[in-house]
Amino acid sequence: MAKPFYLTTPLYYVNAKPHIGHAYTTVVADTLARAHRQRGERVFLLTGTDEHGEKISQAAQEQGISAKEFVDRNSDTFHSLWKLLNISYDKFIRTSDPAHQVVVQKVLEKLKPQLELGSYKFWYCVPCETSFGLSEVEAAKALCPQCQRPVSQVEEEDYFLPLEKHRAWLKETIQKNPNFIRPESRRNEVLGMLTNELPALCVTRPKERVPWGIPVPFSPNHTTYVWFDALINYISALEWPDNEKFHHYWEESGGPLHLVGKDIIRHHCLYWPIILHALGLPLPKMVFAHGWWLVKGEKMSKSKGNIVDPQAVVEAYGLDAVRYFMLRDVPFGDDGIFSEEALIKRINSDLANDLGNLVYRTLTMIEKHAGGKIPAGKPDSGLVELAAQAEAGVWSGLSNLAPGDALKSLWELITRANKLVEERAPWTLAKEGKRQELESFLYQLADTVRAIALLLWPFLPGTAESTWKQLGFTTDLGTQHLPAALKEHIPPGQAISKGAPLFPRLQ
Ligand code: MSP
Repeated sequence: MAKPFYLTTPLYYVNAKPHIGHAYTTVVADTLARAHRQRGERVFLLTGTDEHGEKISQAAQEQGISAKEFVDRNSDTFHSLWKLLNISYDKFIRTSDPAHQVVVQKVLEKLKPQLELGSYKFWYCVPCETSFGLSEVEAAKALCPQCQRPVSQVEEEDYFLPLEKHRAWLKETIQKNPNFIRPESRRNEVLGMLTNELPALCVTRPKERVPWGIPVPFSPNHTTYVWFDALINYISALEWPDNEKFHHYWEESGGPLHLVGKDIIRHHCLYWPIILHALGLPLPKMVFAHGWWLVKGEKMSKSKGNIVDPQAVVEAYGLDAVRYFMLRDVPFGDDGIFSEEALIKRINSDLANDLGNLVYRTLTMIEKHAGGKIPAGKPDSGLVELAAQAEAGVWSGLSNLAPGDALKSLWELITRANKLVEERAPWTLAKEGKRQELESFLYQLADTVRAIALLLWPFLPGTAESTWKQLGFTTDLGTQHLPAALKEHIPPGQAISKGAPLFPRLQ
């Protein structure tokens, strides 16, 4: 059976509209999922929405509608955005799904013997939906150590999962598995968190104060803490505990790859592994924490009015330009600056000048000099070798969670092909009547463009599919397998169907 690959994005809060940061993780996840599928793996890409808790119910109240109505409406916005961004998820989970709620309740039942009912004082940040120990917040200022917004002190009777007794185990696990948390800087940050005693994790809320949450099965006065509920999605989506899906995608695959932002590593690298350990379940394969998109060097926020709306950017510049920019411009893991100038620069140089130009001029010359049909010829061994190198570079970049490096490898092939056009000057061959040489070169170029479409597909599926069709293929590009498809070549005589340039230059 095909190798399983399980990949997740965070579940996005539905209190506000999606922004470019949400689109980012999901586009990277989609690219990885497509690349793994293209190599014959059985992929399960999970995304969805996080719908309970104080933040959501406050937002619903502000709009004067019920929490249920509010989450249904806003979850749809994420659905539509993923459609617009061409996200090939296998499941879109909502934490309000009844099936998810049942699993959360099963987990709570299973952990009950380990939970402690108690009354503790802690600081709580509603925007982060995160509690902090008394010593973690400076009382005079009362600001969240994570987002710097005001926190309030809470003291109430709740169920707690003790974390401290798992601390030594977790530290050793992280130390022994250098790839469990990446990049290295985040791993060190988590190891730093593990040098201090870990306060117990409050896993419930009094129903009276936070009614919008999953009921706790053994305590009618409590609902489930939103983060505890949300993390469980990674196993409820696989229908844990009684389904073969869990065995296949969690156990046989070596565990999920969780893509998360750097602000939620405490939840994914401390709480989540400990919850799994307490349940007796194996750990994820990796948690990769990426950086943040900033605008003019600042965090995006409603109050600053600088939130980048992915839908507006896609409508203005085209989906694949935006996908390319996000995947190529900033190393996954680092913070990046989102600016239209930088986006336009990438469009003009890499997409219009390099990729678009190669495809357009190749097809134009085939129309002009070969009657619109792929001429007779044989693949050029040098170009075939370069395509194989690009394939290896793409795969190693993606396997290393460096989509930008993967694209750089692919662009080496594109650049080389464009350079060859200049060197071989087919227009001169035409003028001099060197038909056979001309046709043979045009064949080699078309065959290289075919390889480029195959390699480009996970990153820019729409552009790759359009290129594939323009080359005259009627097959579905998404069902081609790598690296085998690179050993095949374009059939001579195939009628091309040239379209407009893929990426017009922008001012
Ligand atoms: N609901 C929780 C996650 C639960 S996962 C079981 C949550 N939601 S969120 O909507 O606030 O954030 C979702 C993701 O968006 C996080 O990974 C966060 O890092 C990411 N981003 C939020 N702003 C971002 C940028 N400006 N740039 C890049 N990613 C950012 O946290």
